[in-house]
Amino acid sequence: MNPEATNRRTVLMAGAGSVAALATGCGSDGDSGGTTDNPTPTGEVTTDEPSTPATSSPETTEPGEEDGEALTTITDVPVGGGTIFKEEKVVVTQPTAGDFKAFSAVCTHQGCIVGKVENGTIDCLCHGSKFKITDGSVVVGPATRPLPAEEITVSGDSITLA
Ligand code: FES
Repeated sequence: MNPEATNRRTVLMAGAGSVAALATGCGSDGDSGGTTDNPTPTGEVTTDEPSTPATSSPETTEPGEEDGEALTTITDVPVGGGTIFKEEKVVVTQPTAGDFKAFSAVCTHQGCIVGKVENGTIDCLCHGSKFKITDGSVVVGPATRPLPAEEITVSGDSITLA
């Protein structure tokens, strides 16, 4: 007796749920079609969102899928030195052969773009600050903060901003 009662209750509840679902479906259908003149159904708005360009996504670096800006080639960055890319505001260094680093080229003192890479340092010509090519840390002030690291990808001969 008890199992039968349970079964009926379950069936009744399931039936009630289905009716509610149907009612909701009909209600929303009628609402979107008749009362508003919104030309885009909710479904379309949802599919638009993922197609937004991922300009600031930091985790999109898959080997072979990297589609960042091609910055330079490895031969353009001297071993023990570096190359400044003023437009991109990036300095790429190669402290030892095959070991590439990149830093912001914006001096942390007052925002000048650094001027040269020489004798193991990235030098700002505005007030004389110098930063290590190995980690961007300050060697000579007045700057007190290191140059922030930038992400690059070295793939074959090319160096790409990540
Ligand atoms: Fe670079 Fe002052 S802005 S040292």
